[in-house]
Amino acid sequence: MDADFLVIGSGIAGLSYALRVARLGKVIVVTKKRDIDTATNLAQGGIAAVLSNDDSFELHEQDTLISGAGLCDLDVVRIVVGEGPERIKDLVDIGVQFVKEEKNKNHLSLGREGGHSRRRVAHAYDLTGKEIERALLEKVKATENITFYENHSVVDLLVSEKSGDGKTQKFCVGAYVLEENGAVVPYRAKITTLCTGGCGKVYLYTSNPDISTGDGIAMAFRAGAKVANMEFVQFHPTCLFHPQAKNFLISEAVRGEGAILIHKDGTRFMEKYDQRLELATRDTVARAIDKEMKERGVDCVYLDISSKDPEFIKKRFPNIYQKCLTYGIDITKEPIPVVPAAHYMCGGVLADIWGRTSIEGLFALGETACTGLHGGNRLASNSLLEAVVFSERAYQYCEKYWSIISQIRVAAVDEWKAGKAIPLEEEILINHNWDLIRRTMWNYVGIVRSTKRLELARQRMVDIAMEIEQHYRDYYVTANMVELRNIAWIALMIIHAALKRKESRGLHYIVDYPGQDERFHCWEVFCKKENGKSPWEIESCSDKGKVPELA
Ligand code: SIN
Repeated sequence: MDADFLVIGSGIAGLSYALRVARLGKVIVVTKKRDIDTATNLAQGGIAAVLSNDDSFELHEQDTLISGAGLCDLDVVRIVVGEGPERIKDLVDIGVQFVKEEKNKNHLSLGREGGHSRRRVAHAYDLTGKEIERALLEKVKATENITFYENHSVVDLLVSEKSGDGKTQKFCVGAYVLEENGAVVPYRAKITTLCTGGCGKVYLYTSNPDISTGDGIAMAFRAGAKVANMEFVQFHPTCLFHPQAKNFLISEAVRGEGAILIHKDGTRFMEKYDQRLELATRDTVARAIDKEMKERGVDCVYLDISSKDPEFIKKRFPNIYQKCLTYGIDITKEPIPVVPAAHYMCGGVLADIWGRTSIEGLFALGETACTGLHGGNRLASNSLLEAVVFSERAYQYCEKYWSIISQIRVAAVDEWKAGKAIPLEEEILINHNWDLIRRTMWNYVGIVRSTKRLELARQRMVDIAMEIEQHYRDYYVTANMVELRNIAWIALMIIHAALKRKESRGLHYIVDYPGQDERFHCWEVFCKKENGKSPWEIESCSDKGKVPELA
């Protein structure tokens, strides 16, 4: 199965990139469930960019840097913010229907979210991601050069090595893909691009869809790529708390329109934590809620927008209004029970300003990548923006070097070998470890961490990962097993990075080191130890990747 470009994932990053590189060559897009099973499709708030006269690039840059807690890469922030408006225009050009202002249909209606000093979030009410996904999928499906496969899970990357100048360089030539019929087939490509989203499913409670198992990051790490900043897991402050609700977000845009956080008895609490109150950045709000819940011994706090005009609420947040109503909560009249939940991975596969990783021929885009935009805490609605900006930049790179890339002759690769594997006898072997990992991560590696709990988590996770690796070899590979294996590796990476950062900064709060420490004012860049004693031995990279300029 050969192509010029193999794109793994069908969210905003994968589809935007596939559409562009289809101008150059043959593209295969694989996605592990249905085409719309992406985090993009669930995104509510919108996409941030400088789109109004009272805003400026400097302000958007400043807000991003403040949120990033000193760990953003200034050049990357400038690139993303500067190219943002053009990329929003591209989305409009392919048919994304953003909401326009009532009074001036030439202007987009702009929402506000935590950490933003201006209204700058283009949206399609609270269904922004769904609208973007719709428009992109329509285009992709109508593009001749793109072949699209659903229900195809990628098991691992195909990586070769070439030596020269006393150095060995790894290069990616595609991936082993588990097809719908259970066969594992090598898909070869000149360029492979990871757009698999984040890894929220490594935690018990998450706003993410089921597909968010960190596949791209885990595969790139196993292949030897550099990974960075995995300790910075963003917990969204407000997910719906209801026994039947699975991963349903109450968008930050609700706070942007004036909702307040309260306890059951109506007491407001954000003034104790930050003068920006409910519109403080996410790290602050999520930690405040966590503290309040622990102090009062309660299961949730409440988000109250009921003081606003009911018609406005229904129009601005149709999805949230309807969803809550199905659980018996009328948000126009009563507060919404909410809890923080894992939402976004700010770290990921180290990628440069063209989306290239440390492995030749391998790109990473969107939440899978760590470009330096988010630093220690992503500013709300900067993620969709990063995905479209870097899709274009990765395309520009491929276009510039197409005369060279197009000449690449991808070498023959080994067929997948199942060895002595047999069919998996009991699904419990998967389900039990799945639950164990997610619970351990939630309880030991959550919003507030401690060295002791992190060390315990590490010990347990190594044992679990060993068992999973053994199962992976003993049994025929299945889609569930691929995901379980990936979350185990992701858990180990998060724990590794969290133990390395002996300070509290941005989203990483550790009780043993409650303040910032200049010695840790850098990224934790690491990779898999070559020839380590165990497969999950990790080593910090001596070059530290990019050292961010002081924000
Ligand atoms: C939200 O709508 O609150 C999510 C937006 C984001 O994660 O950037």
